[in-house]
Amino acid sequence: MEIINRRQRMFSISRKLRRDNKKVAFVPTMGALHAGHITLVKEARQSADIVIVSIFVNPVQFNDKGDLLRYRRDLTSDAAMLAEYEVDYIFAPEESEIYPEGFSTYVYVEGVSEGLEGASRPGHFRGVATVVTILFNTVRPDLAFFGAKDAQQVAVIRRMTTDLGFETEIVVIPTVREESGLAMSSRNENLTPEEREKASIIYKGLREAKLAFRAGTRNASELVGIVQKTLESEPLARIDYIAAVDAISLEPVEKIEDREVILSTAVYFGKVRLIDNVALNAGQ
Ligand code: PAF
Repeated sequence: MEIINRRQRMFSISRKLRRDNKKVAFVPTMGALHAGHITLVKEARQSADIVIVSIFVNPVQFNDKGDLLRYRRDLTSDAAMLAEYEVDYIFAPEESEIYPEGFSTYVYVEGVSEGLEGASRPGHFRGVATVVTILFNTVRPDLAFFGAKDAQQVAVIRRMTTDLGFETEIVVIPTVREESGLAMSSRNENLTPEEREKASIIYKGLREAKLAFRAGTRNASELVGIVQKTLESEPLARIDYIAAVDAISLEPVEKIEDREVILSTAVYFGKVRLIDNVALNAGQ
């Protein structure tokens, strides 16, 4: 496994891999790796000749500077973890490699970037779309792996990939959960043990709504109401939003018919903001 810091070196390796007809799978991350990332890496390993993982804490996607400062950076332990899963390259650039002096070109995906996370975290998806564009152009992967927990991020990246003509196939892997049901996230480390235990209420609420959907409830407000009631029963939880949206356009839905809908929520426990979702009509 080689750790690459320079963009030029990554360019020349990806050029060579393409010349040699190697299939390249890419897992973009911000480090602070957990079992959710490892699931993406394992899937990537099974799907391609070469696995490249990027580790870059992208300052442009953080609208909350406290959140950026709290983000754990530990390349040594992340690299040790990735070595166990036969990753071929880690691309871990400095900020100046991604955003050279004078940087002034950003990617903004209209529509899908605007609601939910986009409304609560202005500029977030502009930062995500910009860095993923730079990473895709540098790594030139055949496949790129993302977690379903970040459903809106997936919608933004899919839209961007189509619109900008990237040849990369976007592969989405189901959310990996702690035993309690809490979705794996690097942010879970910032919860107190009590908050971490209580935060399992998020998935409990979503699952109850999903069960109601399976039992025939098709009215989105009713499903949102079920999640809300459950979350409100937990004093440590502070709801940011709960919404039912079309999985592709991210437009709010009222009556759920045949199309895939994401029931999504963001909830604060103390200073930590957690997101989670369940898909309805997705055959799950
Ligand atoms: O999901 C993440 O970890 C980040 O948003 C990503 C895709 C690596 C871009 O910085």
